[in-house]
Amino acid sequence: MERLAEVLSETAGRLQDNYPYFHPLYAGQMLKPPHPVARLAYALAMWINPNNHALDGGRATSAMEKEAVAEIAAMFGWRQFLGHLCGGGTMANLEALWVAGQLHPGKKILASEQAHYTHRRISSVLQLDFEAVPSDSRGRMDANALEKRLARGDVGTVVVTMGTTATGSVDPLAAILGLREKYEFRLHADSAYGGYFTLAENLAPDTKQAFAKIGEADSIVIDPHKHGLQPYGCGCVLFRDPGVGRLYKHDSPYTYFSSAELHLGEISLECSRPGAAAAALWATQKLLPLVRGGEFARGLESGRRAALSLHKKLCGDEQFLAAFEPELDIVIFVPRAASVSEASEHSRRIFDAAARSNLHLALAELPVVFWDGDKNTMKRDRETITCLRSVLMKPEHLEWVGRIWEVLTLAAEETRSRRLTSA
Ligand SMILES: Cc1ncc(COP(=O)(O)O)c(C=O)c1O
Repeated sequence: MERLAEVLSETAGRLQDNYPYFHPLYAGQMLKPPHPVARLAYALAMWINPNNHALDGGRATSAMEKEAVAEIAAMFGWRQFLGHLCGGGTMANLEALWVAGQLHPGKKILASEQAHYTHRRISSVLQLDFEAVPSDSRGRMDANALEKRLARGDVGTVVVTMGTTATGSVDPLAAILGLREKYEFRLHADSAYGGYFTLAENLAPDTKQAFAKIGEADSIVIDPHKHGLQPYGCGCVLFRDPGVGRLYKHDSPYTYFSSAELHLGEISLECSRPGAAAAALWATQKLLPLVRGGEFARGLESGRRAALSLHKKLCGDEQFLAAFEPELDIVIFVPRAASVSEASEHSRRIFDAAARSNLHLALAELPVVFWDGDKNTMKRDRETITCLRSVLMKPEHLEWVGRIWEVLTLAAEETRSRRLTSA
C-alpha cells in the first residue's frame, strides 16, 4: 500500500504538467471536459472492464452500446442503420472510407482542402486515391469546383465536413446532395466535431439547412468524445444501409460462440473495445437526452452564442481583424498589422502574452482569403497567415466571454507597447 501511494502521488505530480482544460479560460484546442455522469459510469464499468467485441465479453455494455448508438442515429432521423462506437473520429472515418472503397473500387475519394488531415492519410492506408477540392473564402467546400471535378467521372466518394476542425465551417450539403443526383457518388459526412449541432436551434439559416440534410448522407461519423461530453476513446460510425454489414463478414472461431445474436465485433474493424465507453455514453444520454431544446442542446447553443459574442467584439475593435462569422463555436482572428507576415508574428506574441495571464488560445496557419473584406488592408506577402483560434465549446464559455475579452485585449495592448518600445 505504501508503494502504491507513492506511485500514485508521483502520477498525480506528473499530471500537473497540463493546461487547465476544464477551465473556461482554456479556449484553445477542441477539448471539452467529460460530464461527471460519464466519468462515474466509466469508472463503474471499468471496474468490471467489459470488452464490447463479443457478447460473452461484455453483455450488458454491448446492449448499452446498441441503445446509445440508436439514440445518436435517431438524432439524424435514422431508425434502420448499422453503427457502433470506436476509438475516435479517425477510426470511424477509416471504417466509413473502407466501406466506401469496397463499394466503389478504384474510384477516387474527394474531401475539401479544409477537411481533417486524416482523410488523405486514411485513403493512403486503404490504397484509395485521394484528391482535395478547393474551399471557398469561408472554409467550406467550393461546390462549383467539386462539380468540375465530378464531371471527369472517376469519383467514388465525396467526404462532406460538417464543421471543419480549424474554423467550424460547414460544407454546403444541400448543393452537394444535388450533385449526387447528377453524378452518383457515395456521400460520407464527417461530423466528428460538428454533428451534435444538429440539435442546436440558433444556427444561421444555411448552416441549419445543411444539418437538416445530414440524414441523407450514406455514412456519418460523430465523436461523442468531442461535443458529446465523453472521455477520449469514443467515436461513432453510422451507415444508412444496414446491408453494408456483409462487407465486415469474417470468421472468428474463438469468439462468437455464446449466442446467435449479433456481436458488435462482427460489424466493427477493431476487435477489443472498452465496454466502459458505452456505459459512460449510455448514462450521459439518459441524463441529458439528445433532443432539441434539452439541456444538452442548450449547452451547444451557448457555445455558439459565445463564439458570436467574441466575434462581434473583435469586429468592433481597431486592434483586431476578425475573419468570417463563426458557423459553430470556433472563432479565428488576427491582430491588425501592415502585412500578413507582421500579423502572423504578432499573433504568436499575443498567444504567449495571453497564456501568461492564463488565457489559453490556439494558433493556426490558415489561408489569407479567410480575411478577405474591406477592412483588410494588410500587404499580402504570404498566402497563409498565422492566426489566433479559439474553440468556445464549453457551455460556461458564454459567461466568460467578457473575461476572455479583457485578458485578450490586455495581451494585445501589452504586445503592442513592447513592440513600440523596442522599435
Ligand atoms: C472534422 C474532424 N474529423 C476527424 C477528426 C479526427 O478525430 P479523432 O481525433 O477523434 O481521431 C477530427 C478531430 O479533431 C475532426 O475535427
